[in-house]
Amino acid sequence: MKTHSAVGCLNTLLICTVAISAMFSLVGSPAWAAPKGSPWGASYFPNIELIDQNGQSVHFYDDLIKDKVVAINFIFTHCGDSCPAETASLRQVQKLLGERMGKDIFFYSISIDPDHDTPQVLKEYAQKFKVGPGWRFLTGSKADVLLLRNKLGLLRDGIEANKLAEHSTSFLIGSENKGQWMKRSPFDEPKVLAWMLGRNLSNFKSYQNAELASYEGADKLPKLSAGEELFRSRCDSCHSLGREDGLGPGLQGITQLRDKAWLARWLKTPDKLLADKDPIAVELYKRYNKILMPNLKLSDADVEALIVYMEASSKGLEQAALSK
Ligand code: HEC
Repeated sequence: MKTHSAVGCLNTLLICTVAISAMFSLVGSPAWAAPKGSPWGASYFPNIELIDQNGQSVHFYDDLIKDKVVAINFIFTHCGDSCPAETASLRQVQKLLGERMGKDIFFYSISIDPDHDTPQVLKEYAQKFKVGPGWRFLTGSKADVLLLRNKLGLLRDGIEANKLAEHSTSFLIGSENKGQWMKRSPFDEPKVLAWMLGRNLSNFKSYQNAELASYEGADKLPKLSAGEELFRSRCDSCHSLGREDGLGPGLQGITQLRDKAWLARWLKTPDKLLADKDPIAVELYKRYNKILMPNLKLSDADVEALIVYMEASSKGLEQAALSK
């Protein structure tokens, strides 16, 4: 399936205002009156029928995006790497948005493998990842989902050929009302995503959460070591270095608990350890609700930097506890 060049541009990690206008110059000016001057209205988005994890039937434009601020991604539930990382990362954003979720802000994770991902399978997935309100997991006909991915600029060449082996780790956030759509990476800082959804794209005037009020409210990032940077961007959506506080185990003291060689193998290829029935991997997989830690395709240098960082942090935490 060849994607359109403007759609292809949406696949870069840019705030694609330029791409969006390029896209409209390619499809021509729409003849209908767009909401508040935006071309991104009912005539652009396919109003396809989808079914959510509770078996409820909805229409994409009318029920899911009209007058709403939304984050949309495409997943498949038996995906080993990018989808769980993306789901975990969106979960952090959901937590920051708190009670706004399901009121004016909505998340949609749409399956690209509808044959496998029935509403029941999606429901189990949502429960496994402990997602909160305002977040729907959806499935529909293959042709409809393909059309939607194409329209949203989230279809990449070669994915179908690779039989779902790889798919774009990116999603779209936007406001139908404002006619603004941006492609983002799941590895964006959750606070920045929450800020964009909760303030930038919203018309929610009374919203006064100081924490999300501005970029200044976000944590100032000091200069980080390579290991800490990796941990913050790739791991802390599922792990804390203190006690357990997420989808995966708390990692305090992990470099003492586990042999270093095992840890290095685990970080590089958790999927392989599980497939080889490594006893620790099997036990962890059962204990953590059968959420498999994603293979994040880390290099040897990444793994080394992470181990150094986790070791140093655990020591720091012990010292802090002793000095209390
Ligand atoms: C999508 C969530 C997710 C992400 C992202 C993730 N993990 Fe995990 N991790 C898990 C889960 C779940 C387990 C428990 C084992 C299992 O079920 O696969 C785990 C297990 C582990 C373990 C083994 C703990 C033990 O008791 O031996 C380590 C170490 C670990 N992760 C480190 C990391 C590091 C470092 C990163 C970032 C490079 C990371 N993880 C990213 C979910 C995640």
